[in-house]
Amino acid sequence: MTRALLCVPLLLLACSSGKPPRDFPERFAWGAAVAGFQVDMGCPTLPAEQCEDRRSDWYEFVTTSELPDTNGYVARDPLSRGPGFWELYEQDLTRAKDELHLGSVRLSLEWSRLFPTATDALEGYEALRAAADPDALAGYHRIFAAMKARGLSPLVTLNHYTLPTWLHDGVGCHKSLANCTRRGWLDKERAVREISKYAGFAAREFGGEVDTWATLNEPFAVVLSGYIFPGEERANPPAVTLQYEAARTAMLAMIEAHARMYDAVHAADTADADGDGAAAQVGLVYAMAPAKPKDPASALDVRGAKQLFYVFNTAFLDAVCKGELDEALSGRPTRREALAGRMDYLGVNYYTRLTVAGAEEPQFAALSSMTAFNPVTLSLWEDYPRGLYEMALHVKERYGLPIIVTENGTVDPKDDGTGESFLTRHVAALADAVREGADVRGYYWWTLIDNYEWNHGMGMRFGLYGVDPADPSKARTARRTVSSYARIIDAAQ
Ligand code: BGC
Repeated sequence: MTRALLCVPLLLLACSSGKPPRDFPERFAWGAAVAGFQVDMGCPTLPAEQCEDRRSDWYEFVTTSELPDTNGYVARDPLSRGPGFWELYEQDLTRAKDELHLGSVRLSLEWSRLFPTATDALEGYEALRAAADPDALAGYHRIFAAMKARGLSPLVTLNHYTLPTWLHDGVGCHKSLANCTRRGWLDKERAVREISKYAGFAAREFGGEVDTWATLNEPFAVVLSGYIFPGEERANPPAVTLQYEAARTAMLAMIEAHARMYDAVHAADTADADGDGAAAQVGLVYAMAPAKPKDPASALDVRGAKQLFYVFNTAFLDAVCKGELDEALSGRPTRREALAGRMDYLGVNYYTRLTVAGAEEPQFAALSSMTAFNPVTLSLWEDYPRGLYEMALHVKERYGLPIIVTENGTVDPKDDGTGESFLTRHVAALADAVREGADVRGYYWWTLIDNYEWNHGMGMRFGLYGVDPADPSKARTARRTVSSYARIIDAAQ
């Protein structure tokens, strides 16, 4: 096919630079992403107790009436307004294949759905299987079978933010971090031990259906929005403010958890689901963002942007990608062999770039040096496609790892072309990175269907397909991005 033919009208932006996205490698995974908590609930006919997973910290966080001081930033949308993927997955997967022409869907297992009660006393696959919820096991096997039947390969995130309530009392810890008893990531040893067991169990149970695994989703977002700057943009339980020591513990716990989950998945998943010779590819999903000084002429802003880039992107990723752990965020990491070599690919979530206005003294002596970034303007949702190119090349140069763009997307509630333009320009930027040698293996749009957007409830719509939360049937409506994404995929293949 000639280059000119590939320049179908909706690709004009990509083609205007003479660079259509056909440079993507042959086995490139074109996909869309969802996450369990955000899409499963809200089933039209299944009884709520079968559809809703009520045992996660997030469920409690968005449904409790006991968090007066988070008023304003927890939408309190009932989960019944969700899109009901747990029941409607067949039709969503059919659309993913037939209308979008996707090759893959990224989804997450919900730890609390599989293990509604504590697993501390259990050892080994058989004991864990006896304790796992049979409906959850059957439900996930059905979803994977439906994917296989349609030729869709799964990318499975083991932990997309939510923790079981037996491990984390997000509401209690919000009220009193010092006195709560189930402290989630702050109970570092327990959290790492139990999540690794769960990861090993899932890898054995579903290894015959899944080859690509992600351990954690955006761990640094959990640190920032959980323990430092919870706010309207994002508030993760326990949503406490400026708790630097706790933030540091949570960060170290998640770094350790990734490495141990990586080991557990590789040990347990020996089945090659797609016959390509590899039983498991295990990575971590990280939200990456370039940081720009608000005023490039201000030395303070320039220094602030560099510092923010280090804390936001580099410190965590150096630990999980290179085994260089900067425990105190001092800028002087030490080598930890037990962390090194445990990343088969890096999942990059890319949405925007950060703007930094001002920095005080650059002290990385503790996570409390985050105060050095105040005032920081986290100008989220800046539409900056070039950042995807910049991050892909940064990963290539610093880590030399394969990249999967595990999330990229925008809200497009009015279906006014915003989504199409965002998609086309970001794919073009990614194609530029591929041409410059970045080893990019996949691209997933966030999200397949309108989702429960954490503390915003159903108030932010990212879906390729719109879902009206008030419609009891939860019918899906294709947005214009569906046909433009399908054309991009067709042209690239
Ligand atoms: C998360 C998703 C979220 C999306 C849009 C990412 O931070 O992984 O769960 O819905 O961004 O905000």
